[in-house]
Parts: sequence; structure tokens; C-alpha cells
Amino acid sequence: MITVTVSEITAETAAVKCFRLCRSDGRPFAPYEAGAHVDVLGPSGITRQYSLCGPPGETGSYVIAVKREECSRGGSAALHDQVRVGHQLTIGEPRNLFALDPAAARHVLVAAGIGITPLLSMAYALHHTGSPFRLHYFATDRQQAAFVPLLENADFAADVTFHFGVGRSEQPEVLAAALADADTGTHVYTCGPKEFMHRVVDVATRALPEDHVHVEHFQPLEPTADAGEEFEVELDTGEVFRVPPGRSIVEVLAEGGIEVDTSCREGICGTCVLPVLDGVPEHRDNCLTRKEKAAGDQIATCVSRARTPRLVLEL
Ligand code: FES
Repeated sequence: MITVTVSEITAETAAVKCFRLCRSDGRPFAPYEAGAHVDVLGPSGITRQYSLCGPPGETGSYVIAVKREECSRGGSAALHDQVRVGHQLTIGEPRNLFALDPAAARHVLVAAGIGITPLLSMAYALHHTGSPFRLHYFATDRQQAAFVPLLENADFAADVTFHFGVGRSEQPEVLAAALADADTGTHVYTCGPKEFMHRVVDVATRALPEDHVHVEHFQPLEPTADAGEEFEVELDTGEVFRVPPGRSIVEVLAEGGIEVDTSCREGICGTCVLPVLDGVPEHRDNCLTRKEKAAGDQIATCVSRARTPRLVLEL
């Protein structure tokens, strides 16, 4: 974890604040990959994940944008209401579950609302490397869209298309037009409300293979009432633990004195992911990609379970 000082706060919209963070020890940050996020431990003691939305090569400061959620459980509201310039926060190292695919010939970035944040860092990175891209940004209206003046004045402004006030029913048509020239070398990246991302995936996969369509989740999967079956976890040390219905692997291991690093404990952040050496996971997370889940060689141990009587995990 890194102690940071808030050096600047700007109100992007009525509901979105941008926080510029510098290391409190005065040292530069490590560079990060476009699409990366950090865990932020706020004043309420709640940890939330926020995408880094500045230029990835900028190591003097990190920038995050926080939307004050109407149903905030204390994370975003505390950052909005209690944090001022000069306050200190604790953040984690950047982690990237939403990386640009280096094999892509062209990238189409499709954001809605606060989902602009990881795509903004991607736009900076793609422009920096001269990679062809287009950013489509959907928002209710100009006033509720963060970063509009920045995008209008960016060096890559010509690669940005705004879509304000496009209703739900019209979105598939607008998305189809935006992706009309997608060819086999195109990769699509989307971040925004769940239903919006579903529409993007639906339209994009009509023309592109599934693994060319990348989705960033900041919400857990819908909770299931199914507490699951009991299974065993064997560690690479040979120790074996029984995971009863309704308990998670991390909880059971912690009781046995084995701490697995965790952050969200909701299957979003990827902190608790461990390699699977044997057995078949039952994935209940929203951090591994569909491809990674199909490969079955990793598991988010805070939420996921087993389809086989035993999983062998590498610590
Ligand atoms: S702790 Fe975040 S995915 Fe498990």
C-alpha cells in the first residue's frame, strides 16, 4: 500500500470529482498500463477500486475520478464529502484487468457515464503510440459528462465522438453505426453501466469474435441464493481444508492461519486470485475474463467455489 496526498480536487460534474494524488514521500509513482485501477482506502475505512485516468506515462501523480453514488455504502460519499486538498489516503499498486490488446490493429473505446475513466487512459496511451482508435462517449447530456472540455481540447480530439441523450432503445442502432467499419483486426473496449455494456457486447460480437470485445466491471455479479456444495481445498504445501456451503475459500484459509491478500471481497478487484493446479472452479466473480474462466487455471478465492470435490491451489 502507498500513502498519498491529495494535491488537487476538481468538480468535473455535479456528481463527479477528480482527485489528483501524489506520493506523500515525494517519490514518483511506478508507470502503469492503460486500463489499470487502484484500490483506494477512503476515510470511512471502505476500500473501493478506481481507474487511473491520467496519461499512463505520467508518474508525478495519479488521477482518479469518483462518482458520488446515489446508493453509496460510504465509499464514494466519504471521498466526496470528507476529503480535501492536503489530506492523506492509502492506495494499492495499480492492477490491470482491462488491458489493451497489443495484437489489435485498431481499437474502438465505448464509454458511458463514469465508464469514461479507464478509456481515457487508453486514449492517451493509443494516441501516444500512434495506434488507430476511436473513442465513443455516451452520456445523458453534456452537463453530466465528465472530462468534456479536456476531450474537446485533447491532441486526440478528432478521434472522439460524443453521443449525448441517446435513449436506451436507440443505443443499439447508434452502436451498430459506430462499429460498422470494425474488421477482424478491431478490438472493442467498453465500460459503463451493466446494461449498456451488455448492449455493446451484443452489437460488437455480431461482427467480432468474443475475445476481441473487452469489458470492465466495477460491480459484483448478481448474488446467488445458492450457498454451493462443500468441497476441499488442497494447497501446494499439501495442507487440506474443507470449505462448507456459504463460506469462502479465503475465510476458511484465514481460520487456518493462512492469509490470502484481499481487497473488495466481492469478486471485482482480482486481488485474491490464485492459480488452480487441479480441479474445476465454479466462477462467481466479475474480475476474470470469459477466456480466463474457460481456461479454469485461476480462481477468485473470495467468492468462487468448486465444481469438483477438490481444488488444488498454489499460494
Ligand atoms: S478480493 Fe477482490 S476479487 Fe477477491
